Amino acid sequence: MIARLAVIGIGLIGGSLARALRASGAVDQIVGCGRSVANLERALALGVIDRYAQDPAQAVQDADLVFIAVPLGAMRDTFAAVKGHLRDDAIVTDGGSVKGSVVADAQAVFGQVPTRLVPGHPIAGTEHSGVEASFPTLYSNRRVILTPLPTTDPEALDQVTRMWHSCGAQVFTMDVAHHDQVLSATSHLPHMLAFGLVDALARLQENDEIFRYAAGGFRDFTRIASSDPIMWRDICIANRKQLGKMLHQFGDELLDLSATIHRGDGDHLLEIFRRAKDARDRYVDGTGVGDKRDLG
Ligand SMILES: NC(=O)c1ccc[n+]([C@@H]2O[C@H](COP(=O)([O-])OP(=O)(O)OC[C@H]3O[C@@H](n4cnc5c(N)ncnc54)[C@H](OP(=O)(O)O)[C@@H]3O)[C@@H](O)[C@H]2O)c1
Repeated sequence: MIARLAVIGIGLIGGSLARALRASGAVDQIVGCGRSVANLERALALGVIDRYAQDPAQAVQDADLVFIAVPLGAMRDTFAAVKGHLRDDAIVTDGGSVKGSVVADAQAVFGQVPTRLVPGHPIAGTEHSGVEASFPTLYSNRRVILTPLPTTDPEALDQVTRMWHSCGAQVFTMDVAHHDQVLSATSHLPHMLAFGLVDALARLQENDEIFRYAAGGFRDFTRIASSDPIMWRDICIANRKQLGKMLHQFGDELLDLSATIHRGDGDHLLEIFRRAKDARDRYVDGTGVGDKRDLG
């Protein structure tokens, strides 16, 4: 049982965690924190939090567990704001989509990554933001990746694992660098393709007509381009090395596809499409991947 949970960033990810823990009876009191009073008041009215403080230092006072769910670009300032105000035995964890940058931010602020800080990333989300978009079942049957360091306190890791289990999630652990490499391929690259495609089409002169006649496939493929631009700017910058490599590799794939089409090489096209269909049918269909809770 978490006696007092502080959630810094009461948006989709932080709000959904608060709702899920509340629904499972795993938490007693929830303190929310954010910059906008209107959002915090809304969270209060919705019953997502019990009270709020705009100052992170105040919000974490006496909290036994602190969950940070702000955009990655605000992580370092958030760590700095809570430094010196955490209870000695408080456990801190986060939901940021890139883990290398969070670890680097913690190191920069605290000198070394605190042993009771457990970096984490729920592999669940939607293209909507804010507390209104949060819901208690966001994490049920979804995966959460925790990236503990060799210095992480095993008891803190255990508590954070139990917190996610209370939300109905499955918890996996992974090395920080490996997490960022895997997610650059499975999440960050697809978002770049969606943003890039919609932007390219929007800038065509006849864009009205293009969007008017867009079919279901276009809608499915580009849904994630409605995600929050600030969050995605921060993810790209935080994971720029890995994402840069993936984009480069994918650029070569597109060039190959383009050359194959140009020379009318149907055999090679069939080879590519069959390999892709086979991989998707095998790995994606039936695993739950691809529903509306797969983002970030
Ligand atoms: N959305 C996804 O699909 C998804 C999935 C997995 C992980 N994540 C990660 O989860 C984190 C939160 O994402 P989200 O989707 O929950 O975003 P969100 O719905 O926009 O919520 C973000 C929250 O952080 C606060 N915030 C924004 N900018 C801030 C700043 N500069 N300083 C302090 N607080 C700030 C916002 O409240 P105020 O504006 O009132 O401060 C808001 O409550 C991000 O790190 C993201 O990478 C997202």
